[in-house]
Amino acid sequence: MTKEEAIRKCEKYNQTQVLRFYDELTDAERNELLTQIEDTDFSLIERAAHEAKKGEITPIKAMTAERIKENEEKFKALGLEEIRKGHVAAVLLAGGMGTRLGSDKPKGCFNIGINRELYIFECLINNTMEVVKEAGNYPYFFVMTSDKNHDMTVEFFTEHNFFGYEKDKVLFFKQEMAPATDNDGKIFLEEKNRLATSPNGNGGWFSSMVKAGYDKVIKDNGIKFLNVFAVDNVLQRILDPVFIGATVDGKFSSGSKVIKKAAPDEKVGVICLEDGKPSVVEYYELTDDLMNTKDENGEPAYNYGVILNYLFDTGKLLETINNPLPLHVVDKKIPCLDEAGNYVKPETPNGHKYETLILDMVHMMPDNLPFEVIREREFAPVKNKEGIDSVVSARELLKKNGVEL
Ligand code: UTP
Repeated sequence: MTKEEAIRKCEKYNQTQVLRFYDELTDAERNELLTQIEDTDFSLIERAAHEAKKGEITPIKAMTAERIKENEEKFKALGLEEIRKGHVAAVLLAGGMGTRLGSDKPKGCFNIGINRELYIFECLINNTMEVVKEAGNYPYFFVMTSDKNHDMTVEFFTEHNFFGYEKDKVLFFKQEMAPATDNDGKIFLEEKNRLATSPNGNGGWFSSMVKAGYDKVIKDNGIKFLNVFAVDNVLQRILDPVFIGATVDGKFSSGSKVIKKAAPDEKVGVICLEDGKPSVVEYYELTDDLMNTKDENGEPAYNYGVILNYLFDTGKLLETINNPLPLHVVDKKIPCLDEAGNYVKPETPNGHKYETLILDMVHMMPDNLPFEVIREREFAPVKNKEGIDSVVSARELLKKNGVEL
């Protein structure tokens, strides 16, 4: 892109401030900035300001833990058969910044062990290996990273010999970045020749997979379902044959692992129907009315929270790949250059990041099986250093589940 083209693009979107140090730059630095301006989607800032409201929310029925128990053997046999045939692959979402944990390494490199080393990535591979042993083959294991942590993640897996997983079945791909802005939607600079950017949320994983060419791996290997999950739940059951079996048995195009909420106002996204299609309402979108609605048994009607462990039919994903996902604007602390060009690391949120979220993909699917799992066995998120959903609480839960630390 030439300087004139960059000026035109910046003028169109009211972002000319990103060129304010242009004259001070070397030729190479100018080129870097122009390329980044060319590659960055400026329109998302405007789009984020005009997001549509949610539709009509009604309850959805979950498959309860009791029902699952009754059919466990049948579901498990069916799920293992799908895994053996190579019909299911795992997708680990590890592109996030993990800012709440306060480490600048990828979250998966965090050592959750106490008396021995046990990295989060290792924990997840160990969990997957339990199924690999039962099924007798290694499913594809995709790992999404971002510009900020890709090299460190790949090196970490390589150094640790993929924690015993079949190396050729682990495929990495990078998610895209989105510009970060001040509170008025003006894009920050993080260097005089670099826009401030951050990973574009966990909703872009499938389009990034396709950009990396992995739709070919899906088609060539007959992969029918992707089991997508978060890096930070160390009790995560990956490629759970019972979950896969239940989803396939019911001919669902997607499934969501859910837990019974601990309290009506617990901060988890709740599975529901929106205009008759499956959907997830975020806890801050759940009105008092919805929170207090009861079902025919007197139980809260919106009682099941998602834990970021989903199954998606690959055919349906490919059909909906061009449907835009809603953009979420998140307040964050964004290191940036001030007016004078000094680098500032803010103590409080100073601007916005723009993200799409995987929970919105549930609404793209024609149907969904909410599959209840037991919180103490499958949900130990590591979001904070201490307190709720922390390293401390996750260690306790790992110990309770017999994992040696
Ligand atoms: P979180 O919503 O907890 O975000 O991610 P985060 O970036 O890891 O952590 P904070 O909020 O900065 O502390 C849930 C899951 O989605 C992945 C994360 O890696 C985690 O597995 N994720 C999140 C991505 O892969 N990309 C993103 O852009 C954001």
